[in-house]
Amino acid sequence: MKEQLSTIRAAALAAVEQAQSATQLDELRVQYLGKKGALTAVLKQMGRLSPEERPVIGQLANDVRASLEAALDTASQKLAAEAMEERLRAEAVDVTIPGRKVTVGRRHPMYIALDELKDIFIGMGFTVIDGPEVELAALNFDRLNAEEGHPSRDWSDTFYFDRDSRVMLRSQTSPMQIRAMDTMPLPIRMIAPGRVYRKDEVDATHSPMFHQVEGMVIDKGVTMADLKGTLNTVAQRMYGADTKTRFRPHHFPFTEPSCELDVQCHKCGGAGCATCKGEGWIELLGAGMIHPHVLEMSGIDPEVYSGWAFGFGLERTAMRRFKIDDLRLIFENDVRFLEQF
Ligand code: PHE
Repeated sequence: MKEQLSTIRAAALAAVEQAQSATQLDELRVQYLGKKGALTAVLKQMGRLSPEERPVIGQLANDVRASLEAALDTASQKLAAEAMEERLRAEAVDVTIPGRKVTVGRRHPMYIALDELKDIFIGMGFTVIDGPEVELAALNFDRLNAEEGHPSRDWSDTFYFDRDSRVMLRSQTSPMQIRAMDTMPLPIRMIAPGRVYRKDEVDATHSPMFHQVEGMVIDKGVTMADLKGTLNTVAQRMYGADTKTRFRPHHFPFTEPSCELDVQCHKCGGAGCATCKGEGWIELLGAGMIHPHVLEMSGIDPEVYSGWAFGFGLERTAMRRFKIDDLRLIFENDVRFLEQF
């Protein structure tokens, strides 16, 4: 039996030495130390031994068990350590690799101009309101005095959603005048910035989508002088105290009288150049005294109240503000352009 035990010890230790995985070690543990294992099988024969031999063999068997257990433990620790090594190697992070540069975005020049405009108007007591880009023709046209057959209602100019031309992408922010009259208590001082849509081809001064800032004041005793004073102040706050402006007569169906406001060209200072198309002036907005019929349609008595309204072209405002000479730059979002503001 002594020899049997030595053979078992030698074979088991050699096998443990060779083992490549934790599973193999488990199998060896069962094979040698388990209930049906080799060592147990030997111990079962102890009964056949003489009383003198028994403690000696017993001692030896315990030694074999102990050394085998120790060998198994050492081997499994070694395998675990190796596995950890391997994982650390595989998941290694090279902390010396330079990081990726994070580029921080910045505000778009048009929104810088819009924020400045909002600041100026809020300082004058105006409220900023917001409204839908998908609008009813009733608000975009009818209640603004542009009746059926008015040229601006033409399919070639306007994006309609339905055959009856009742729902459309608003072609101006002026329907916000009507929405304000319908919802806000008098007196009203509001501006309403937003997108508008027209069937225009893209060029240096046109885009099928652009932005307007509508504005309106309704109160008792409001006159054209207030309109001119307010808009001149805005132009000077925006472009500098020495900014020259010019009011030209114009026509809009919903204002009477109507005008357009020009500012002197920033490129040539009024001499005439490509940016102002030789005019020396750049058109900034349309404006006028709200037509009494428009007030009436909204249930406001034109004998008691009067008002004026204006509509800025926001892109143009930003172009003048930042001396940009092509509208397309505003929409292309080329970072080389945007980085300059
Ligand atoms: N809605 C007009 C346009 O798009 C501008 C405007 C607004 C004119 C308000 C008068 C009053 O051209």
